[in-house]
Amino acid sequence: MFSRILFATFVFATISAQASCIHGTSFLRREVSEEGKVKVSNFGYNKENGPANWAQLEAGNTQCATGKNQSPILLDDTIPKATSRPKVVIADVEEAEFENLGTTLEVIANGTTTFEDKDFALKQFHLHTPSEHRINEEYFPVEMHMVHEGADGSIVVLAVPFQLTEDGSTTQLLTSVIENIDNVTTPGTVTKTGKLEFAELTKALETEALFQYTGSLTTPPCAEGLTFLVMEKPLPLDVKTFNSLKSVMKFNSRFVQNELGKPNVLEVASEAAAKVQCAGPGDKTEVKVDMKADHAGPGDKKTEAKVDMKAGDAGPGDKKTEAKVDMKADHAGPGDKKTEAKVDMKADHAGPGDKKTEAKVDMEAGHQRTSTMSASKTEETDSASQKMETEAKGSKSEETKMEENGKEAGSEQHKVMPAGNKMWRRRRSYKQQ
Ligand SMILES: *[C@@H]1O[C@H](CO)[C@@H](O)[C@H](O)[C@H]1NC(C)=O
Ligand SMILES: *[C@@H]1O[C@H](CO)[C@@H](O)[C@H](O)[C@H]1NC(C)=O
Repeated sequence: MFSRILFATFVFATISAQASCIHGTSFLRREVSEEGKVKVSNFGYNKENGPANWAQLEAGNTQCATGKNQSPILLDDTIPKATSRPKVVIADVEEAEFENLGTTLEVIANGTTTFEDKDFALKQFHLHTPSEHRINEEYFPVEMHMVHEGADGSIVVLAVPFQLTEDGSTTQLLTSVIENIDNVTTPGTVTKTGKLEFAELTKALETEALFQYTGSLTTPPCAEGLTFLVMEKPLPLDVKTFNSLKSVMKFNSRFVQNELGKPNVLEVASEAAAKVQCAGPGDKTEVKVDMKADHAGPGDKKTEAKVDMKAGDAGPGDKKTEAKVDMKADHAGPGDKKTEAKVDMKADHAGPGDKKTEAKVDMEAGHQRTSTMSASKTEETDSASQKMETEAKGSKSEETKMEENGKEAGSEQHKVMPAGNKMWRRRRSYKQQ
């Protein structure tokens, strides 16, 4: 009993965001304004509001990036089929509310699905294009999600894929759903469906094979613990209906998630990114700067600078390491003695204490002209036509090379760096955490 109360509290705490998957359930009441508009979702499927970044949109969305039982998934013979059959009862209606939530098109429907001796009330069904689940890796043009809620707050989603037909046959229900789609082309708008008859759909759900697994909402907050029943065989869909749906919904499909129980794909990806960008704890970064100056002026020979830097990185959670090497050689002509190189390392790490490492290198050099060189990881500077390449060697080391095509500068008609001369090389060795 106590654990049930705890669970309920947890669910209410985590499922609080705007989400089409739970829209209309007790977790997220529908909000219809007086002007008959619905509130549009704050997440999306494009650029930075897309599925890769949902966890950052709201504090309650962490499961989107850390959950280990996320939906959708690849469905194949490793995913069990439902052993008990759902009984699906949905009364036909003359019309129903049809809403554009910005992230999906949704129909407010009433019905009851009985599954494993429990009743679940149908709250709404909405559509995704392309399909979110893939069956034997194949995607489908449309997937319908019928969202049900039990008396205890548990959620069951019946999912139905649709396949385009060559003979133009289709599922009449969808044709009726989008009868007034021209009235809901703008997010937040509401209209009515045509007459809805559910027999074809409910019969299929009661007779076709259903994949069954425990997954998550496919939209923020990506809360887990809901039951998915996904029909294996798609229902028919004609091209006209599909194109009409697609022109309004655009694209609203989350990418497939990792195998159930395995680490979230976003965690896997961010670890990979961190390995490339950042050294682990206690790692040493060695920077060797080699400068050969083939100068024409008297006394000029060779300048060699070695810079050793220790990066006390914070380890996991590290975000970005940026090293900027700025070399200023303020040569004033004959007789000048000093070359100054400034190495700036900014480490934007998440761990405490990590801030900035600055190394200042003073070099004596009998240079005779003025040259300024600056390099950053991504820039190619005009003044010196510098090119810097970064290549990751395996996941363990990174080699950075900078080559300079020397340019004549000042009054002295010679090159500081011959074309293609390897000027400096940076090597980092990683200790794996
Ligand atoms: C669903 O039930 C509600 C409340 O009983 C009702 O207002 C609404 O018209 C019904 N909608 C449909 C499509 O049956
Ligand atoms: C669709 O839009 C037209 C024009 O605004 C309006 O007259 C009509 O009532 C709307 N129909 C529905 C079902 O929303």
